[in-house]
Amino acid sequence: MLHVIDHPVIKHKLTIMRKTITGTKDFRQNLDEIGSLMTYEITKNFPTRDVKITTPMGETIGKELDKDVVLVPILRAGLGMVSGIQQLIPTAKVGHVGLYRDEETLEPHFYYAKFPPNIANSTVLVVDPMLATGGSATAAIDYVKKTGATDIKLVCLVGVQEGIDAVEKAHPDVDIYLAAKDEYLNEIGYIVPGLGDAGDRIFGTK
Ligand code: PRP
Ligand code: URA
Repeated sequence: MLHVIDHPVIKHKLTIMRKTITGTKDFRQNLDEIGSLMTYEITKNFPTRDVKITTPMGETIGKELDKDVVLVPILRAGLGMVSGIQQLIPTAKVGHVGLYRDEETLEPHFYYAKFPPNIANSTVLVVDPMLATGGSATAAIDYVKKTGATDIKLVCLVGVQEGIDAVEKAHPDVDIYLAAKDEYLNEIGYIVPGLGDAGDRIFGTK
């Protein structure tokens, strides 16, 4: 199922990120902040369990998140979303899937995967700012599923219908969260209006 998180502060920060004049430092900072705000929304129905605790005033029953959370950024640009999410879930472990998109064919090419040992029993958030053709997200989720993980969500900043359709077709069990659904993919596979090449803008490689 698709969830587009509708929040004025997210819209404001995303607008800053979209602007060409926004430099690497502000791009990363706003991505961090949106990552945190999205996480607040995404986690609102996460199950909790009771835990007996002692406060300075005596014993009571508190709540803990019932499942561990594993973040899986799709390298490189997904790395830019990790710290914002970890602000809210500092105990989250981090796996990685390395994929790059061939500029001509737009097909994803795999180069790396490493996952924490508890991933199969965790809630897994696969993160990447851009959901364009959906090829990278679909492939990353394929790799995550090979670990035995079944509770998987895809968290992106900006996506288009083509990418949403591709992920929903390949992985109908995976909820997709976006901060914005954009208009279309252009002839070279970039999201419009989008925000350009997310990896280059995060890491200053252009
Ligand atoms: C970008 C982006 C996604 C992918 C989206 O990564 O971060 O991973 O493209 O496109 P898709 O939905 O059509 O697969 P890119 O391959 O440019 O690598 P990078 O993050 O290393 O820059
Ligand atoms: N990857 C990006 O970084 N930007 C796009 O618009 C599409 C894919």
